[in-house]
Amino acid sequence: MIALAGKDWYERERAVALVQTLTTATASELTLRNQAPFLASALAEAECGITIADPNLPDMPLIYVNAAFTRMTGYSKAEALGRNCRFLQGHLRDQPGVQKIRNALERGVDCTTVVTNIRRDGEPFENRVKLRPIRTDDGTLSHIIGIQLDVTAERSALESLDLQKRRYESLIEAEKSYIWRMNAAGEVQNVSDSWLALAGLPSMPQPPDLAAIRGALTQKAAEAFRRGWAEALTNLQPFEVIYQLPAQSESPRWFLDRITPVLD
Ligand SMILES: Cc1cc2nc3c(=O)[nH]c(=O)nc-3n(C[C@H](O)[C@H](O)[C@H](O)COP(=O)(O)O)c2cc1C
Repeated sequence: MIALAGKDWYERERAVALVQTLTTATASELTLRNQAPFLASALAEAECGITIADPNLPDMPLIYVNAAFTRMTGYSKAEALGRNCRFLQGHLRDQPGVQKIRNALERGVDCTTVVTNIRRDGEPFENRVKLRPIRTDDGTLSHIIGIQLDVTAERSALESLDLQKRRYESLIEAEKSYIWRMNAAGEVQNVSDSWLALAGLPSMPQPPDLAAIRGALTQKAAEAFRRGWAEALTNLQPFEVIYQLPAQSESPRWFLDRITPVLD
């Protein structure tokens, strides 16, 4: 028995819609459990969030959420069912990922994107959402399945890697003496203008002209670099080369270079 109380029609209509959704949700879960018990327990025990929304009910409410979804978001089944899943966005509504979902749902196609969501305790997290529309044999849209994965740790690791890369690049930019950057094949990718100036070479587009750089070194120094680099790629140990620059100058300066292989 369900009693409905409300001050005005709007509230009553909302209450009716909610009861309708929850009835559908309970019925869907019971049908799933009765007709496909293995599938029901696979969905329930999956490590990632699994949600099902009904596109034929007003505002496309959730009619199924599994245990991983409730763990990830902090919202219980009772709190999540009957609501459009946008409640996870809180005030963060203006996101490219949300726009991508909106477009995909309008066109009735699959989509995968990352959105910033907010757990029940207020903590934001990065949620990789995958949506797939399900159609009946005659092509009518019947359900939308959502798969959610918390990728916060993955994202912050990528961000710190990106930060390191940018720091390293700005170090090359700002370094008063010089830093060379070479790839794993031993090809020079980047040489600072200050090194080129010391070598008596004009600044050049990157990656630089290798023949011009070799020309500024003695043959012995060029060979020492080549050999050292080949060994460093095998044993991943730094190496040093002492050489003169510019090689052709009457009064060259002595240099000590330390070359360190850096792993990604
Ligand atoms: C099954 C399903 C699961 C969804 N899961 C999420 C989710 O985990 N996080 C989220 O931000 N949006 C999720 N959405 C998207 C929102 O419910 C909503 O469609 C989106 O915010 C765009 O619509 P709107 O502009 O009406 O908000 C899901 C949608 C469906 C159909």
